[in-house]
Amino acid sequence: MRMKLIAGNWKMFTTAASARQLARAVVQGLGKEERVEVAVCPPFTYLSQVAEVVRGSPVALGAQNFYPEKEGAFTGEVSPVMLQDIGCKYAILGHSERRHKLGETDAFVNRKVLTGLRLGLHIILCVGETLEEREAGRTSSVLQGQLEGSLANLEPDTLPRLVIAYEPVWAIGTGRNATPDQAQEAHAFIRGQIAKKFGEFGARSLPIQYGGSVKADNAASLMRQPDVDGALVGGASLKADDFLAIVRAALA
Ligand code: PGA
Repeated sequence: MRMKLIAGNWKMFTTAASARQLARAVVQGLGKEERVEVAVCPPFTYLSQVAEVVRGSPVALGAQNFYPEKEGAFTGEVSPVMLQDIGCKYAILGHSERRHKLGETDAFVNRKVLTGLRLGLHIILCVGETLEEREAGRTSSVLQGQLEGSLANLEPDTLPRLVIAYEPVWAIGTGRNATPDQAQEAHAFIRGQIAKKFGEFGARSLPIQYGGSVKADNAASLMRQPDVDGALVGGASLKADDFLAIVRAALA
């Protein structure tokens, strides 16, 4: 039985005050609920403050990125060790906004995945096709390429800390989510690829989240699919009520 993971990707939103307030509302709304794993991923600048708010609650803390070195002369970057030092359990890597707007390659994402997992972080690795790729019938080959590139040389004993988020690029921030069938098809394909690479047991235990315009009213039908193990939520994670409704949908 895989636990569902609902993670809020706050992207480059919130202020110090609104980040604390949002985190407080999520903590209060979630209470002692532990049948679903919930994480919030604020911008770097507010991680420490949100860490204070979620401490002692079941809400986990995640970052949205890091640089794949423990420390060093990397001006402007943040290391996975620093993230763990302030209480992060998760980090999102390979998000399509970083791939497409900042030019991150599978090879660079791969370095981050290996480093983060080796140092003990739980990694949410995002993969997903563009609309053009889907319409050209290339969804599977794109996903396969991203998985092979981003997970090259993965040490099998670190697999239990890996989460994959299937995020079709055309569904992110557009209000147009994948249908439950489209999501299920992609998730089953991803799980099959992981089974080929790491074996059936590893694949069965791997949480695969769906991301892309997840809202309270579509979350339940997406998460009812057998291979959809939760959601990576952007826009709807910025309002506590909307985010908590998605958490409740995971329990339905
Ligand atoms: P969205 O973003 O929910 O606003 O579509 C999802 C994401 O980018 O992770």
